[in-house]
Amino acid sequence: MRSLWKLATSPASLAVLSVAVVITAALVGYTYKKPTRQRLWTTDEIVLYNGTDEGTPILLGILGSVFDVTKGRSHYGPGGGYHHFAGRDASRAFVSGNFTGDGLTDSLRGLSSVEMKSVVDWRGFYMRTYVFVGKLIGRYYDNSGNPTKYLKGVEAKAARGAQLLEKQKLEEDKLPSCNSKWSERDGGEVWCDSGYPRLVQRPFEIALTGRMSKRCVCFKEEELQRPGLEVYKGCDHLSKSCPV
Ligand code: HEM
Ligand SMILES: *[C@@H]1O[C@H](CO)[C@@H](O)[C@H](O)[C@H]1NC(C)=O
Ligand SMILES: *[C@@H]1O[C@H](CO)[C@@H](O)[C@H](O)[C@H]1NC(C)=O
Repeated sequence: MRSLWKLATSPASLAVLSVAVVITAALVGYTYKKPTRQRLWTTDEIVLYNGTDEGTPILLGILGSVFDVTKGRSHYGPGGGYHHFAGRDASRAFVSGNFTGDGLTDSLRGLSSVEMKSVVDWRGFYMRTYVFVGKLIGRYYDNSGNPTKYLKGVEAKAARGAQLLEKQKLEEDKLPSCNSKWSERDGGEVWCDSGYPRLVQRPFEIALTGRMSKRCVCFKEEELQRPGLEVYKGCDHLSKSCPV
């Protein structure tokens, strides 16, 4: 008995014991931080990780990529503003902001190239912020985990959107924007330190978003004859400042 006790408290067995404790702690810590390893998922499986159960990790799908968003439980858990993203792929809602009924779909049908870029950017956000745990079999990945034509189409269209946005920015940088301010009391105002305010159509806006959009640009007096310049309503031709 005595010798057993001696053995148990000997420096050697204490060392073995503490190594065992460290390894166990590391394993527990590891499995706690990474409850889910990379794999293929089905929609029926990820719906079980919808955040309603405190002890279960929360998964979110976007463009068929699945992320463990458990550390964002305040957003994705019950009562969180983005709980509807939990346990499913609601890719479309990342641009529509429609978290109800059929708005919660992974279909991006009819979205513009810029909107598709926005969804792809959100996927980038999740890649940087959370843990990637695999792919969802369905619209974006086939049951071998290969990207579908649909995903490739979305990524190609998003890339065109990114190009258009870049081109638009380069064009806009060529023309000086007006200064602007807005206050509850005085309303809005645009003005130019040098030149005169004019409204112009953004060059690629219709291709980008399907909508018209204008911005205020300052033109020098000798440039005011250019086509497509619009004087602000109720503002003099050679006024440096206009109410909006
Ligand atoms: C299309 C509409 C929108 C979508 C898809 C969206 C999506 C999201 C998502 C997914 C997050 C969580 C990010 C994370 O995991 O950390 C988030 C956070 C946040 N959103 Fe939105 N959002 C939208 C509109 C808005 C609007 C209109 C506001 C404010 C008026 C807003 C304010 C916030 C704030 C403040 C946070 C950070 C919360 C925090 O870190 O505690 N969002 N948003
Ligand atoms: C949400 O997940 C829980 C288990 O965590 C499951 O019992 C429940 O059925 C899920 N909800 C839906 C709508 O599938
Ligand atoms: C959300 O989408 C659904 C289905 O497309 C539609 O019926 C509903 O009106 C939309 N809600 C909002 C707020 O846009």
